[in-house]
Amino acid sequence: MRLPPRGRDQPLRTLTRPLSGALTTALASGDTDRIIYDLTGIEHQYDAMLSELPETRIRFALKACPVDEVLHTLAARGAGFDAASPAEITQALNAGAQPPRIHYGNTVKSDQDIAAAHRLGVRTFATDSVEDVSAIAAHAPRARVFCRLATGGDGALWGLNRKFGCAPGDAVRVLATARAAGLTPAGLSVHVGSQQMTAEGWQQALDTLAETLTALAGRGIVPDHVNLGGGLPALGYQDRLGNPLDPPLDKIFTVLREGMDHLRALTSTPLAFVMEPGRHLVADHGAVRAHVSRLTRRRQPDGTEAHWLYLSCGKFNGLYEMDQLTHRMVFPDHLGAQEYVSAIVAGPTCDSDDAYGDGRHPVRVPASLTSGDPVWILSAGAYATSYMTQGFNGIRPLPCVCVRGQEGQH
Ligand SMILES: Cc1ncc(COP(=O)(O)O)c(C=O)c1O
Repeated sequence: MRLPPRGRDQPLRTLTRPLSGALTTALASGDTDRIIYDLTGIEHQYDAMLSELPETRIRFALKACPVDEVLHTLAARGAGFDAASPAEITQALNAGAQPPRIHYGNTVKSDQDIAAAHRLGVRTFATDSVEDVSAIAAHAPRARVFCRLATGGDGALWGLNRKFGCAPGDAVRVLATARAAGLTPAGLSVHVGSQQMTAEGWQQALDTLAETLTALAGRGIVPDHVNLGGGLPALGYQDRLGNPLDPPLDKIFTVLREGMDHLRALTSTPLAFVMEPGRHLVADHGAVRAHVSRLTRRRQPDGTEAHWLYLSCGKFNGLYEMDQLTHRMVFPDHLGAQEYVSAIVAGPTCDSDDAYGDGRHPVRVPASLTSGDPVWILSAGAYATSYMTQGFNGIRPLPCVCVRGQEGQH
């Protein structure tokens, strides 16, 4: 492999966003496909988020990366967990989190799920309907509930805006029902949509929260916390055309800080804040080492010729989100390539959805790629391991490796 000489733990600087030394070293060593997480990078990301939002309780949405080493690392740093099922609660407990730092954040759950979570010690549940509240009262008596408000999802790559949440008036009804059923109406939550690219997305959610807190106060209900959900963006993605996505993270944090101050000023008792980041903590600190299956040139249905670059990794074994975004790719054997072609990039399976941007948007790749060449697929740490199929087309989930860098190298 013709990599430029570097010292150990030196970041690869041929990229616009440098890749950490630990990830570079791990990607370059070994010749088999795998997904790699940089635990030191994840710790730094957690610390950076906490320094932007110092009084916030961070509960990692573990669906974004249910990898035991990652969860242990975050739990040891002080993170709690947003769990979406009894199995996720068990995994969070095994990672070292105490039950008071775990909440059941899924509004969708059966009676059995609620009872199992209660047996495991969880006492705080998300809800958005009176039916769910009745089930929580029956199977997790005296629990704390927080009601999820619906958001528009505008500005996010994945809006999450129809399946979950209720309008402010309905949230008041849901929490009043909870109180009458012996539950504690403990909070409100929102989720502004995943990879939310605008500060306005948060502003609108904060406005809805303010309206609902005021309406609740009119009914004598005073929540003790607001959960601002997930949605914080990763920084290393590209859009479907291969242009860098450049979320205004500083502005987002400013809006969040100001919004929290405003909500605090509205309430008569102290108000705590929870956030449930998923991709923001892990996406840019995970990368896939895959390989080239083949670079081909074929006539398309419209008569034109197109290059297709087939990789060993795609939608069903690590790159589930390739419908909405593209990942930066490094071909380490071709760093000084002179000749490039525009190719549509696709995964290895028989499914035609297994391609970037619907198979319509080519990206520049070295013309000299041959079968077996390694490719590093960057910012691939979020939702990769959770969305891998168990063997579609006989392709097994990627093995997962966790590495650590030297302090100060991220
Ligand atoms: C309830 C809840 N919280 C948090 C998250 C994490 O979202 P993200 O990865 O966008 O931060 C999700 C993702 O679907 C979610 O459903």
